[in-house]
Amino acid sequence: MKRRDFLVTSAAALAAARRVVAASDRVRLGFIGPGRQGRGLLGAFLRQPECDVVALCDVYRPSLDEALAAIAKRDPERRAPQIESDFRRVLDRNDVDAVVIASPDHWHALQTVMACQAGKDVYVEKPISVAIDEGRKMVEAARKYKRIVQVGTQQRSGVHFQKAVEVVQSGRLGKITFVRTWNYGNATLGGIVAITRKSITGVVINLALGSQRFK
Ligand SMILES: NC(=O)c1ccc[n+]([C@@H]2O[C@H](COP(=O)([O-])OP(=O)(O)OC[C@H]3O[C@@H](n4cnc5c(N)ncnc54)[C@H](O)[C@@H]3O)[C@@H](O)[C@H]2O)c1
Repeated sequence: MKRRDFLVTSAAALAAARRVVAASDRVRLGFIGPGRQGRGLLGAFLRQPECDVVALCDVYRPSLDEALAAIAKRDPERRAPQIESDFRRVLDRNDVDAVVIASPDHWHALQTVMACQAGKDVYVEKPISVAIDEGRKMVEAARKYKRIVQVGTQQRSGVHFQKAVEVVQSGRLGKITFVRTWNYGNATLGGIVAITRKSITGVVINLALGSQRFK
């Protein structure tokens, strides 16, 4: 085999194995609120070859440390993302294409609208908002700024949910007159377990607790 052929073949094999994605096709992500759910999302995005995590933002230092450790464990060669405590600094950055928002519910609307205003696409955790008018503002912002916004509610798109709908609508269960649902889990407690001056301070307390409802 000639050297050139070898190089071409090897490069193709390597690209196929790693699904190498050109820098111009990669999505540079900022994570806002990498707590328990956020770190789950982080793991999922880190497995996507077309994603780079370039920024992490949390008001609670232990959440940042755990996220940084997860990234370093997965790929020790990877450059550590920049860390921030104020999500607005992530939105200011030109090297962030999209944000993943997994902060507490009361932040989803404001952070999504501001991300759209800053030209970022958004994946935001459910519930979309804590009030219907906030949700409408989020939809308006996505349309106005022509952003892609996805909410992490898979209860319409999940295959097993669609199957359940199909079974009910087909009439195979007869006339439904009573429904009982429940949800239980076995997760350990996460999130901010105790606010101390060491882990969360000053202006950051405002960022953790939020202000009034977003209008
Ligand atoms: N889709 C699902 O199945 C699913 C499952 C669990 C949780 N969730 C949602 O994910 C969100 C987070 O839940 P969790 O269980 O991970 O909570 P968590 O408390 O573990 O994580 C939230 C993180 O956000 C940080 N935070 C708070 N205010 C912030 C701000 N202003 N800027 C940046 N970071 C901030 C907190 O410090 C914390 O690290 C909630 O909205 C929850 O409803 C969705």
